[in-house]
Amino acid sequence: MSNERRSAPEFLYGTAWKEERTPALTELALRAGFRGIDTANQRRHYFEAGVGQGLEAAYAAGVVARPDLFLQTKFTYRPGQDHRLPYDPEAKLAVQVAQSLASSLEHLGTDYVDSYVLHGPASGYGWSNADGEVWEAMCHERDAGRARFLGVSNVSLRHLEQMVAAHADGPTFVQNRCFAHLKWDRDVRLFCQERKILYQGFSLLTANAEVLQHPRIIELAARKNATSAQVVFSFARSVGMLPLTGTSNAEHMRQDLASRDVALAPEEMRTIESLAG
Ligand SMILES: NC(=O)c1ccc[n+]([C@@H]2O[C@H](COP(=O)([O-])OP(=O)(O)OC[C@H]3O[C@@H](n4cnc5c(N)ncnc54)[C@H](OP(=O)(O)O)[C@@H]3O)[C@@H](O)[C@H]2O)c1
Repeated sequence: MSNERRSAPEFLYGTAWKEERTPALTELALRAGFRGIDTANQRRHYFEAGVGQGLEAAYAAGVVARPDLFLQTKFTYRPGQDHRLPYDPEAKLAVQVAQSLASSLEHLGTDYVDSYVLHGPASGYGWSNADGEVWEAMCHERDAGRARFLGVSNVSLRHLEQMVAAHADGPTFVQNRCFAHLKWDRDVRLFCQERKILYQGFSLLTANAEVLQHPRIIELAARKNATSAQVVFSFARSVGMLPLTGTSNAEHMRQDLASRDVALAPEEMRTIESLAG
């Protein structure tokens, strides 16, 4: 890992879809040992102010302090939002970015985030002018000290190639849904590896139910005295990913973090890779 990203934790706790349970689950995750939190200023799927309440409770209880944490949030275009917008939809995109991040900082009770991520490009086909405008605005926010690093999410190899060709600054993080049947997003991961971009993988369990239930994974997990979920998280880390989990269960939080201790031999890695389509 490059020096500048050294503070990225080994696991990110995802806060999507938790609604009124968000404050308590965020605090529980910090108590369980997570030091990276992923959220978004997208009220439709995330309750970012609730994440801030959970952080506040953990700070007050002396569980962690702000410098111990890696806080990541996102800018989401209008079509990804519902009516609860964190910006003026009539404003220019650059202004929307500034307003959205200002609102995130207020929600999270901080004056900077560790990572600010474009939730997804405007078009599935390629990197657009709108994305360029948003990205430059995000770079401005970073240069002003309100975000330490930048990232982009839900991208194809084509998006990334066009993006790095168009901008002086590329992303530090890429966050993608990781499907085993796409060889665990191999093309995007290789692109990231070559450019020292840290790949964050989400839906590692929910997108790959067939892998978790595969007899060879079940047998491998039994041999390791681990669960199939732990094997998948260990595999993810071994190929260089930073995994996310959004579990709502205290025991699963413990197991997910403990997957760091599940070591896989090269032959076992090949077994898991071979399950990809
Ligand atoms: N950038 C994007 O567009 C985007 C999209 C989706 C998600 N995300 C981020 O990624 C985070 C994670 O989302 P996700 O899609 O990976 O799904 P998720 O919400 O983390 O769901 C994981 C599922 O796996 C289960 N689980 C977790 N640990 C387990 C374990 N050790 N054993 C058995 N089951 C376990 C959970 O059940 P229990 O709750 O019962 O443990 C849950 O049903 C989100 O919260 C969000 O922050 C980002």
